[in-house]
Amino acid sequence: MKILVIGNGGREHAIVWKLKQSPTVTHVFCAPGNAGTGLDATNVDIKATDIPRLLKFAMAEKIDLTVVGPEVPLVAGIVDEFLKANLVIFGPTKKAAELEGSKTFAKELMRRANVPTAEFRVFTNSAEAISYIDEKEHTERFVVKADGLAAGKGVVVCSSKEEARDAIRRMLLKKEFGEASDRIVIEECLVGEEVSLLALVDGKTIIPLEAAQDHKAAHDGDTGPNTGGMGAYSPTPIISSDLIDLVVEKVLIPVVHQLKKEGRPFRGCLYAGLMLTNQGPKVLEFNVRMGDPETQAVLMRLKSDLAQLLLATAEGKLDTIESVEWDPRPSVCVVMASAGYPGDYEKGKPLRGLEEAALVPDAKVFHAGTLKMGDQIVNDGGRVLGVTALGDTLAEAKLHAYQAVKCIRWDGAWCRKDISDKAVGR
Ligand code: AMP
Ligand code: GLY
Repeated sequence: MKILVIGNGGREHAIVWKLKQSPTVTHVFCAPGNAGTGLDATNVDIKATDIPRLLKFAMAEKIDLTVVGPEVPLVAGIVDEFLKANLVIFGPTKKAAELEGSKTFAKELMRRANVPTAEFRVFTNSAEAISYIDEKEHTERFVVKADGLAAGKGVVVCSSKEEARDAIRRMLLKKEFGEASDRIVIEECLVGEEVSLLALVDGKTIIPLEAAQDHKAAHDGDTGPNTGGMGAYSPTPIISSDLIDLVVEKVLIPVVHQLKKEGRPFRGCLYAGLMLTNQGPKVLEFNVRMGDPETQAVLMRLKSDLAQLLLATAEGKLDTIESVEWDPRPSVCVVMASAGYPGDYEKGKPLRGLEEAALVPDAKVFHAGTLKMGDQIVNDGGRVLGVTALGDTLAEAKLHAYQAVKCIRWDGAWCRKDISDKAVGR
């Protein structure tokens, strides 16, 4: 089987690496990829959003399966274009991807499907949105969300009405996120612990993946600004098998069923971001793709053939998969970032110590924002590497991951020191 993976992050490097281990896979391409995917696959110089060129490439190379990593091409309809050309592709169609592409659509669908989520109202007019806030008497806390995709920056959790009014003005009047904030959702603020559950869905069959927990805040102890994710570990004691069953029953089944009923059958990876409130789990958001860096931690533990799993999902044959096998050993993924991230950062600093890190037992360095320049590998993004390791215990997995981290240096490199500590003491 010839496979094309679309994307250039750590998630895509992990997917490429795992697909390469499949005995049925003869060749893996990655478009556009990074320096790491260039080592484990053949990079193709086409952007993840250039759907016409990706399609042309897949047809010319007779690609048997295309796997889409990021949300932007999914929401833009890459799957529809590939399906029209009779190509097999892993990911939801444009209509199903609206679950991530429009928060209003997702919230209203949840309402129709009776899925637990925060109370909400949708606004396009700032004066109306502000009076809604002003009239709410018993709370000062609101969450203001841009309706469309905003690279993870379109959500403002506000602890005062003034902050909420400011967020409303920035989104609806100043158009801070362009068209993505022509419409906003204002939600009640939920409290509790946050978890995510990812599942393969082929339209009818749902197979939950092993749970992983992300670390969204930039600094230790969950402080500092929000990021794309500074690390992850799997499994997580916060998500028991009873909780997985509950989320499948109360969230995944009704959503998948509702989408099908509305003529938007979902195929791909469905990612539910949840808050565990004292009234049970409630949905914060849906993503229509695998998480980054959750994928790095989860795929490190996957023993089954990823190519067969993704192919079965894309072909609507997940019911033929008897079971998914996992390494019982926990994994930890530590993200190494550029100085300044999640704000502005400098690119082009040479990375050292990658060979040394590769010698650490049970560790794998997944690349994200890296670029090959001549003989050197340099940083080329905010999140640069996802250093991932297994261990007999979570503590050992953490130790191995940080052993590998210690081998790697570049000017300004930093990481959180506490990835997976959330699990300790539970
Ligand atoms: P989202 O992209 O909708 O998941 O929002 C990003 C982050 O904002 C989440 O991971 C939560 O930490 C936070 N968040 C979103 N919605 C809410 C809510 N209703 N209550 C509290 N926190 C929220
Ligand atoms: N790690 C969060 C995400 O992929 O959206």
